[in-house]
Amino acid sequence: MTAEDLPAVMEIERATFPADAWSEAMLRGELRDQPRTRHYLVAEMGERVVGYAGLAVAADQADVQTIAVLAAHRRAGVGAALMDALLAEAVRRGATSVFLEVRADNPPAQAMYERFGFRRLGLRRRYYEDGTDAITMTKDLGSERPDAEREQ
Ligand SMILES: CC(C)(COP(=O)(O)OP(=O)(O)OC[C@H]1O[C@@H](n2cnc3c(N)ncnc32)[C@H](O)[C@@H]1OP(=O)(O)O)[C@@H](O)C(=O)NCCC(=O)NCCS
Repeated sequence: MTAEDLPAVMEIERATFPADAWSEAMLRGELRDQPRTRHYLVAEMGERVVGYAGLAVAADQADVQTIAVLAAHRRAGVGAALMDALLAEAVRRGATSVFLEVRADNPPAQAMYERFGFRRLGLRRRYYEDGTDAITMTKDLGSERPDAEREQ
């Protein structure tokens, strides 16, 4: 992802997270940290941005910062392709584990993370502004083989 992608990305961000969308300034800040501690990607179909995802890596720990796919393009493998790319980058950068937070009222995202081998770590009560709990999840990257794992 580059600054040129921000208009399209912000459109998806606002449509996907109406209650707590990141501001364009926040995303710009994330992009400024590339490649040092951040890795952001867009998924395109033709010329159109249909999804994006971002990773933060510090020492041996990686965090999934965000992932979203345009509603009309979900359940077509875009989210999985973005996750594959984030996990591969985390491994490339030497991370040994990856963490994320997901809303307790978001079963589709939880299902995707479970499919990628994330396990539930804990619960942060009323973590989100509207009072929803966050589930924290982690995945060990020690013997990471994303593609092989997904075929099981
Ligand atoms: C979560 C999200 C990124 C998944 O993207 P996607 O492109 O639809 O995901 P994929 O088609 O690659 O699906 C990958 C796997 O995730 C799981 N999954 C995805 N959506 C699901 C749903 N609605 N119900 C159950 N499982 C689901 C399935 O295991 C799926 O594999 P399958 O299609 O072979 O069964 C997408 O639903 C989204 O943008 N949601 C809104 C934003 C969001 O919640 N982001 C995460 C914030 S923590």
